[in-house]
Amino acid sequence: MTEMETTGVGAKSDLVFFVNGRKVVDQDVDPEMTLLTYLRKNLRLTGAKLGCGEGGCGACTVMVSRYNPTQRKVFHLAVNACLAPICSLHGAAVTTVEGIGSTRTRLHPVQERIAKAHGSQCGFCTPGIVMSVHTLLRNHPTPNMEQLESTLQGNLCRCTGYRPILEGYSSFTKFYGCCGGMVSNGCCRDGQNGQAANGNIGNGWDEKVSKELFQVSEFMPVDPTQDPIFPPELMKAGGNDETTLKFVGERVTWIKPATFKEVLELKTKLAHAKLVVGNSEIGVEVKFKNCDYPLIIAPGHLPEINFHRYTEHGISFGAGCTITYLNDTLAEAIDTLPEHQTRLFAAIVEMLRWFAGHQIRNVGCIGGNILTASPISDLNPIFLSAGCTMTVMSHQVGSRLIKMDHTFFPGYRKTALTPEEVMVSLDVPFTKGNEYFLAYKQARRRDDDIAIVNAAFRVQFEEGTNVIQDIALSFGGMAPTTVMARNTANRLIGWKWDNDLLPEACSCLEDDLPLPPSVPGGMVEFHRTLTTSFFFKFFLSVQQKLSLKDVPPPYRSAYSLYHREPSQGTQIYQEVPKGQARDDAVGRPIMHLSALKQATGEAVYTDDMPHIQGELYLGLVISKKAHAKIVSIDPSEALKMPGVETFVSAEDVPGSNITGPVVMDEEVFATEKVTCVGKIVGAVLADTQAHAQRAAKAVVVQYEDMEPKIISVEDAILHQSFFHPISKIEKGNLEEAFEKADQIIEGELRIGGQEHFYLETCAAIVVPHGEDGEMEIFCSTQNPTKTQMLAAKAQGVPANRVVCRVKRMGGAFGGKETQSCAISSVCAVAAHKVQRPVRIMLDRDEDMVITGTRHPFLGRYKVGFMSDGRVLALDITLYSNAGNSLDMSQYVMESALLRSDGAYTIPNVRALGYVCRTNTASNTSFRGFGAPQAIFFAESWISDVAIKCGISQLKVREINMHREGDVTHYNMTLEGCQLQRCWEECLKQSDFLTRRRQVDGFNGENRWKKRGLAAIPIKYGIVFIGTQNQAGALVHVYTDGSVLVTHGGTEMGQGLHTKMVQVAGRVLKIPTSRIHISETSTNTVPNTSPTSASISSDLNGMAVKIACETILQRLEPYMGKGSWDDWVRAAYLDRVGLSATGFYRTPGIEYDMQKNEGRPFSYFCYGTAVSEVEIDCLTGDHTVLRTDIVMDVGSSLNPAIDIGQIEGAFVQGYGLFTLEEQVYSPDGVLYSRGPGMYKIPGFADIPIHFNVSLLRGAPNDKAIFSSKGVGEPPLLLASSVFFAIKDAIYSARADAGYKGTFRLDSPATAERIRMACKDQFTAQFPAAEPGSFTPWAIKL
Ligand SMILES: Cc1cc2nc3c(=O)[nH]c(=O)nc-3n(C[C@H](O)[C@H](O)[C@H](O)COP(=O)(O)OP(=O)(O)OC[C@H]3O[C@@H](n4cnc5c(N)ncnc54)[C@H](O)[C@@H]3O)c2cc1C
Ligand code: FES
Ligand code: FES
Repeated sequence: MTEMETTGVGAKSDLVFFVNGRKVVDQDVDPEMTLLTYLRKNLRLTGAKLGCGEGGCGACTVMVSRYNPTQRKVFHLAVNACLAPICSLHGAAVTTVEGIGSTRTRLHPVQERIAKAHGSQCGFCTPGIVMSVHTLLRNHPTPNMEQLESTLQGNLCRCTGYRPILEGYSSFTKFYGCCGGMVSNGCCRDGQNGQAANGNIGNGWDEKVSKELFQVSEFMPVDPTQDPIFPPELMKAGGNDETTLKFVGERVTWIKPATFKEVLELKTKLAHAKLVVGNSEIGVEVKFKNCDYPLIIAPGHLPEINFHRYTEHGISFGAGCTITYLNDTLAEAIDTLPEHQTRLFAAIVEMLRWFAGHQIRNVGCIGGNILTASPISDLNPIFLSAGCTMTVMSHQVGSRLIKMDHTFFPGYRKTALTPEEVMVSLDVPFTKGNEYFLAYKQARRRDDDIAIVNAAFRVQFEEGTNVIQDIALSFGGMAPTTVMARNTANRLIGWKWDNDLLPEACSCLEDDLPLPPSVPGGMVEFHRTLTTSFFFKFFLSVQQKLSLKDVPPPYRSAYSLYHREPSQGTQIYQEVPKGQARDDAVGRPIMHLSALKQATGEAVYTDDMPHIQGELYLGLVISKKAHAKIVSIDPSEALKMPGVETFVSAEDVPGSNITGPVVMDEEVFATEKVTCVGKIVGAVLADTQAHAQRAAKAVVVQYEDMEPKIISVEDAILHQSFFHPISKIEKGNLEEAFEKADQIIEGELRIGGQEHFYLETCAAIVVPHGEDGEMEIFCSTQNPTKTQMLAAKAQGVPANRVVCRVKRMGGAFGGKETQSCAISSVCAVAAHKVQRPVRIMLDRDEDMVITGTRHPFLGRYKVGFMSDGRVLALDITLYSNAGNSLDMSQYVMESALLRSDGAYTIPNVRALGYVCRTNTASNTSFRGFGAPQAIFFAESWISDVAIKCGISQLKVREINMHREGDVTHYNMTLEGCQLQRCWEECLKQSDFLTRRRQVDGFNGENRWKKRGLAAIPIKYGIVFIGTQNQAGALVHVYTDGSVLVTHGGTEMGQGLHTKMVQVAGRVLKIPTSRIHISETSTNTVPNTSPTSASISSDLNGMAVKIACETILQRLEPYMGKGSWDDWVRAAYLDRVGLSATGFYRTPGIEYDMQKNEGRPFSYFCYGTAVSEVEIDCLTGDHTVLRTDIVMDVGSSLNPAIDIGQIEGAFVQGYGLFTLEEQVYSPDGVLYSRGPGMYKIPGFADIPIHFNVSLLRGAPNDKAIFSSKGVGEPPLLLASSVFFAIKDAIYSARADAGYKGTFRLDSPATAERIRMACKDQFTAQFPAAEPGSFTPWAIKL
């Protein structure tokens, strides 16, 4: 019998819902489909994007509106379309980004403001952000800044650094003191032009300085009539059906029961049926954990589980109430009831601030959270400690009460409910006057992250005393279930709440909460330390509340609640000279030319392209082993599956299976062996993505493990597994210098890798044209030429048969410079085999496993210096983990060696670089290209020099800092060195010295929160690798005067096309509106260099300029009278060619590393950042309080874009140095495969005060219109946060009696910060002896 028959529910139902006001009726819906897939594939609404598929990025956000007949109100919720099952939308109205406005009709202010405020770079995150804010405004037309920041907790952006988004949208808020554009004649702030939003810049800047990046007066007013109306038909229907609905798909049946009784009956009859409400757990289980649930019961709409009711003892919540509903109801109760009654409620509300993002909270329900029985649920520790009572029901037994205590979770993902039982409600009790309740959570990232450890503590005292009558202590993350420390609790009953209690409690907790050293999740000492640190916080809080004995002031910092002011900042740049022509856009902050289309969802990314007739989808079969022989590949089961067309492997490669972006050391498909997890072994072609991916999983590959398995740098050193040659730069006489030095330090440090985490994963569509091997590749790549060449090689055809076309990318950051070619080549082989179009867009987890990342580095150094802080000698050896093939690793290492001097002149240097070959995915180019790692080592040892000399870090940096005319360790003389200017301006702008005193003062007064301050100078040489210092452009002028520009660079959000249009506009002396760039393609500009190395504007800008000048020369004879249009027409009639190419090569760059001669860089960019942080010494949490940046970008081509690049790079670098951590098993399997575990910075992570100034009066004679490259250098400035954190840790350690330097590897995660702040709690949990156990995770 099929699931459909067993349900006993009648025939299939029609799914009815509305999208953007249009009714959708689907008689054959597949319950496995998500709303996102339905919108994108079935309705061709591609505005909502797929960034992760697991609710972690918000790119798919849409607004779902429902009518509540009881409250006679329409509710609007932001929802992750990637997790919303399509059947859950029955009776709802969905609004997508396309539904609120477009450039073709009328923009919505939410779309317009993010674009005009420069909050959209690559634009892939933009529609999701637009819809989050749109939903906020539907519910709160004039929100405050807290609401705005909170609403964006569930959205990620990898490009902008968030500041411009918040600033643009702050114009809707009360904070802004603005009408939100609501007054009839525009906006109340007209005339103020962004001043308040841009902050108060103070006095002292000359008149040519501007602080306005956009004009508020240009913002359209908010017009509520523009919002789509809720379909009246759905109101009439009352929001719900009175009949049971059944949707039947290929593998899954979905039942929406009409009554609760029916739910109970179905659960009895079909105990294996899965209840689904928000699908935020089940969706992830199905997609990523291979769980199959053939029968779904969706009771979320039923009133029996959707209510709240005040009772004598507390509030009773229906199990189906969402987390948002729980939060809002409790918040209301806190406002109205006496404080002592609502201490538990307050703990829940405080916890929910850090529970997922709004999109998840809007759908995830209480029952779902409890009954998932996750050991890291945020609510379960609270409910256990509170001893909440749950009502459950089943058809046979009726209802029964279950107390949530230590027996509730009998095992991993198990609960006290029987399979037939359904949770109905939960009673959340009031607290009593002598009862205190607090909860704690520490995660990798504060916002929208699951806990590493969480805890909830309740204590009740005997009336009028501090004697414990009852106490409950629950923890998440300490066992396979949420656990209660019952022995500790039992031991403490009867104890007084005084200082004797603390050591006793900590010692009992140690016994109650053991963790073996190889426990899944790792971070054992951190987990254990958190348990007692949390208790310490609770202990002090209660002590303070009892008022029996005041907590000493420095100790109060242990329990003060986290509060973050709304972000704000200033952006300062030099205005264009007074006489500059109005039409000349160079130097003006014009908006990214695609920004409006990005904000409306009209901008087309690779996977947004319409389905092509006959198209097939590619599902990849990837290796699960790090180093193994392939014994056999058996696709037979896969080939039998629905929709499958064929299997593709190395046997189908018509040309050469040998490939590689730099050297030919890779295979298109693995043949005899695999050398890393994630290597592509084969692929399945099928009619849909779901069919292709499912079938790919059914392909059986048998392996035989091979030895050795080299995963980490240390493994590589042990096995001497290196790529050759070993690079070296040597200058001066090291031995002599070490002899002379007063002191020598030696050390070792590690900096981890970094995922690119571009929001758009790798994607390609390959269209074979049948004739002569011709093929078109639409691809998300920074490297169209390499894509073309490698696809042609695999096909065995000349390159002239393959055209690669790139419209835009949703971010790249170096990750699509070479690695996208592996995907497009596989796709090309598949398309060749079937002679049909083939499409692929990697899922986030596939992308993270298959493609490489920034290189992890290990550095060992020896530094000789004088007691006055002068550094004489540096001997440094770098080891990078390159992965299983060379890719760009040799160049990355050379770049790191060149940059190993940081921003300092060191007379004697030996820098040695080993590129380690390991059995991990091949690491690659990433913004900064070895420089962030190099600067990390340099700034670490220079800080240590300062500590050793007993001199301030500022002073030691100044003593050694580069000056004009200095000669670097690669023998290049610094000319036009702006470093001192950046440094001095930044110290002044940040008021460094005063704040240093304030920070020291704060640290003296606070024991458990510490502040740190650091100033970091940077220099960054701009150059491309060898022959790539060249670029081409093609400019057409049409007879209507419009101009089409093509050049070799690709647009990935960095605004390259916008800058190129500005360049063309200046040369041709026409407005930018006359100029268009459509795409980058290998048949218009051949042999392009990849778009990377911060040099694309320099190279392509010059090529565009040369092409435009050629045209202008040809037009010169016609320029006497009339306008541009007249000249063009006249030239055409005279048969003058109106199309020209431009070609440029950077002069004077040649460097021989062996001889250490020549000039490796064209020029240098300089900058300085000052950052201040606050850390929580007990949890390792941190906040960036303020960052000031002064950056030298020459004469900016576009200050808005350049400031956007600076802020975006800084926040990405901040992720590198503090948050982002790749987690690998000892066998080389990547655990961190999505935003759930891999945390990039979110909205709430940026500096609270974020001030950026472009250095004025610093033209650069080496690049187009005196500008400088900007994409990469500012990323290095984020190291200032790392060193500010280290500065804060010094203070914590000093308080605990630890003096002197200490090792702090990067990133400075919560774990590293906490464990570096040594104290009595860390001392309680020493690490297990290395080698005595197999760790769960290792460092690469
Ligand atoms: C991106 C993301 C972030 C998250 N962040 C957090 C976080 O910070 N903290 C945290 O604690 N959790 C977090 N979660 C987990 C999840 O969101 C919550 O656990 C949520 O409350 C689950 O509710 P749901 O309605 O979506 O559950 P569903 O996925 O619909 O169901 C989950 C389970 O509960 C069962 N169930 C639901 N209702 C009942 C009922 N009435 N009776 C019996 N069984 C029932 C279902 O059968 C299923 O087994 C996150 C999830 C995602 C995807
Ligand atoms: S794609 Fe839906 S949250 Fe990332
Ligand atoms: S603009 Fe946000 S991810 Fe690119």
